[in-house]
Amino acid sequence: MNKFRSSALLCLFILVVTAGCQPDADLDPQTSITFHTPGGWPEPAYKFEGNSLSQAGFELGKKIFYDPRLSRDNSVSCGSCHQQFSAFAQLGHNFSHGVDNKLGNRNSPALFNLNWHHGFFWDGGSNHIEVQPINPIQNPVEMDENLNNVVAKLAQDPEYKNRFQEVFGDETINSQRMLKALAQFMGMLVSDHSRYDKYITGAPGGSMSDAELRGLSVYRSKCSGCHTDPLFSDYSYRNNGLPVTALNDSGRARITLLAEDMHKFKVPSLRNLRYTAPYMHDGRFNTLNQVLDHYTSGIVSSATLDPLLQNGITLSAAERSDLLEFLNTLNDDEFISDKRFAQSE
Ligand code: HEC
Ligand code: HEC
Repeated sequence: MNKFRSSALLCLFILVVTAGCQPDADLDPQTSITFHTPGGWPEPAYKFEGNSLSQAGFELGKKIFYDPRLSRDNSVSCGSCHQQFSAFAQLGHNFSHGVDNKLGNRNSPALFNLNWHHGFFWDGGSNHIEVQPINPIQNPVEMDENLNNVVAKLAQDPEYKNRFQEVFGDETINSQRMLKALAQFMGMLVSDHSRYDKYITGAPGGSMSDAELRGLSVYRSKCSGCHTDPLFSDYSYRNNGLPVTALNDSGRARITLLAEDMHKFKVPSLRNLRYTAPYMHDGRFNTLNQVLDHYTSGIVSSATLDPLLQNGITLSAAERSDLLEFLNTLNDDEFISDKRFAQSE
């Protein structure tokens, strides 16, 4: 018997006996939840201004995130390309498949610590977490749907009417409310429980081996200029010298139209790399060793190559192995198995 059914039965039993049962006491819709900035982290860019966080708002956002009705043929949800076990990236796919199995041309990024991003997408093409989802919903190679249709589909479902009523005080379902709820769910996806975090805060389970500590200093001297801790990215746009492929993705320049932004991409975080392969904006590398080979011997010089990488990065065999050990301390198992973020039954 599954857990849900057994707890429902237990509930029924208690209901009969006591004639009063709260099936989900901790899911009281009125309960407000608070967003917690981990100690020592900078202030987030997005603080839910004009979007008051509540348990019900978060749960509604989660329901929408996992709802395939957001796509034209009701087959693809946000969660199809952003899977929790992959830290909300899509494990094993360089490009994701949207409706009709259409292929995009960028790798699905992991979703965590989004409130600290100033721009979304590899090129920063969207600058607000409450606007960003319009892009995947309307993108022909992702969900290929339009917002009005999505709103109309959700409005036919009495369950959604109840949920919108709980969160916003009346049954009106519109795209603005839908986007606010989605932002509540996505904004709460904070990953700060890696072993490294516990080491830094002195929490239990935070021990680091000698090799990991040596790797931490390799990281500090060779990587932290861009992958800045504690977020392990400064979320700026930079060219890290990847050879340009036939796709010729111009990156940040696609948005700014500036020659100086050619082939610059948003620096991704180094957290949770164990779950998020393949790597880079086009998923060209399957392993971290391939990534390190790029930094030591694959960097291509160009007018926009980042100054920090002009001379490449040198890593001795020992430094490479220590660095890999260190990167491994940045994986957050609690985040990828946190039931609050999982699709409800
Ligand atoms: C077909 C696969 C697919 C679907 C469905 C999809 N995404 Fe994405 N998502 C991507 C890809 C690929 C990117 C990177 C696009 C780019 O950079 O141009 C992305 C980027 C993002 C980002 C930006 C992350 C960052 O680091 O900048 C967010 C946030 C996001 N998606 C949320 C969503 C939400 C919410 C939905 C549902 C409304 C959704 N996605 C549906 C594939 C998908
Ligand atoms: C000059 C800034 C810079 C430096 C220094 C740098 N990186 Fe990067 N890194 C980037 C950028 C930009 C990207 C994304 C490039 C792309 O996808 O086009 C990236 C991507 C990555 C990725 C892929 C992550 C993912 O989710 O796809 C890994 C892993 C990585 N870097 C590790 C490192 C390591 C380890 C070091 C130090 C040895 C390092 N980087 C040094 C800028 C930098």
